[in-house]
Amino acid sequence: MTRGAGIIAVDGQAAAGKTVVGRELARRLGCPFLDTGIMYRAVTWLALRETVPMDDEAGLGKLACGSAMRLTGDEGSAILLNDTLLGPELRSAQVDDHVSLVARVPGVRRELVRQQRDIAAQSARDLGGIVMVGRDIGTVVLPDADLKVFMVADPQVRAQRRYDELISQGQVAHYQQILSNALARDKIDSERDDSPLVQAADALVIDTSDLTIDQVVERALELLGSRKGEAAP
Ligand code: CDP
Repeated sequence: MTRGAGIIAVDGQAAAGKTVVGRELARRLGCPFLDTGIMYRAVTWLALRETVPMDDEAGLGKLACGSAMRLTGDEGSAILLNDTLLGPELRSAQVDDHVSLVARVPGVRRELVRQQRDIAAQSARDLGGIVMVGRDIGTVVLPDADLKVFMVADPQVRAQRRYDELISQGQVAHYQQILSNALARDKIDSERDDSPLVQAADALVIDTSDLTIDQVVERALELLGSRKGEAAP
């Protein structure tokens, strides 16, 4: 077990509340937070802008390798991509519709996973841990994480939450579109060959359908406490 908060991996389905829970967990533990989804979204935004076709694996891999990314904004909610600051545009319907196609490309994953592992190693060394959120964190990126949480929720609940979130930010949102996009992304993410969305054997599942953010955070903290208890000499 890492000293400090430790390494915490949060994975799960589209719009299951991973980001909001992960960010709050990191805040309470006083450690950094990394939403890896934003990195896949940034490469997708760039691919759309540069009109790189979604089946051009070499071109997409090259984009990922050639992109200087720096996470910034309110607790990592924005990204500085080659000097362009990207925030809400990363959650547009257009990015939602293409991100899973970009994320299934091995060359893209290789580069982003490399960056994510570097960030985790540095955070563990300097700050005692990190909360990292995504699809393959517990299985591929950080298989030795101290705590692995896998979040699921009913599709309708997930879509309603994402709809409410976008509306509260003043963005345009359509419930049906969000629902069908979340299901489509879950399907592509689960069926891809390279690091599919799958629960790690040692992950603890939290169904958040009937839970508030605080309840999920409390549950994760309890699990972390009991893991630390188990690891103590
Ligand atoms: O917040 P939401 O669950 O809607 O999505 P996200 O975490 O921003 O991730 C967007 C997409 O990026 C996912 O549907 C995956 O295709 C991809 N992704 C991934 O493949 N691996 C990760 N570690 C994180 C995201």
